[in-house]
Amino acid sequence: MEIVLASNNADKLREIREILGPMGITVVSQSEAGCHFEAEETGETFEANARIKARAAGAATGRPCVADDSGLEVNAMDNGPGVYSSRFCGDRSYRETCREIVSIVDGSDDRGARFRCAVVCVFPNGDELTAEGVIEGTIGHVFEGEHGFGYDPIFVPEGHTHSMACLTDAEKNAISHRGRAFRAFAEKLQKYMGKEHTPC
Ligand code: IMP
Repeated sequence: MEIVLASNNADKLREIREILGPMGITVVSQSEAGCHFEAEETGETFEANARIKARAAGAATGRPCVADDSGLEVNAMDNGPGVYSSRFCGDRSYRETCREIVSIVDGSDDRGARFRCAVVCVFPNGDELTAEGVIEGTIGHVFEGEHGFGYDPIFVPEGHTHSMACLTDAEKNAISHRGRAFRAFAEKLQKYMGKEHTPC
């Protein structure tokens, strides 16, 4: 089946294609589907933002559209930047933003953090599927690794000694918040498609 990803972020598209491709789900970007805008993320939760993006792309394309919203929650920042992860970086480089987070966490005795991802898929008939994925970890002391993007170089997944940016895409997908959320979504989607195609 083919599904539109309500994003034009090339990093995300690559990761999500790697996760859903082996399950027989072809992912096209919203611009490939003829939708050239990104809805404003005005929600207060990851799920609300994912729903806003999926509904906007669904209305524009008339096709099944899936969106995710994700971010980093840092204990020492009262679970921020959270839904504001992208805006917290703003026009700065991620290197600079990561440095600020490390310095905040260095001043605390709690290095705990997690990446969280919510997925919402909307169908032209109004049906909706949702899923969530979380990966726990800590904020590292140093910036390390060349893979991934965003806050990966300062996030050390639980059970690992190096940052998420030291993992290959495949290794990251196997444990990441997005990998977990999209695999949970793919399972629900397969059940949903099964139901849709069951003769009455
Ligand atoms: P989005 O709104 O889901 O596109 O993501 C919000 C922001 O969260 C991104 O711009 C990154 O700053 C951060 N983020 C989300 N997922 C990841 C990840 O896998 N690695 C590093 N940063 C991430």
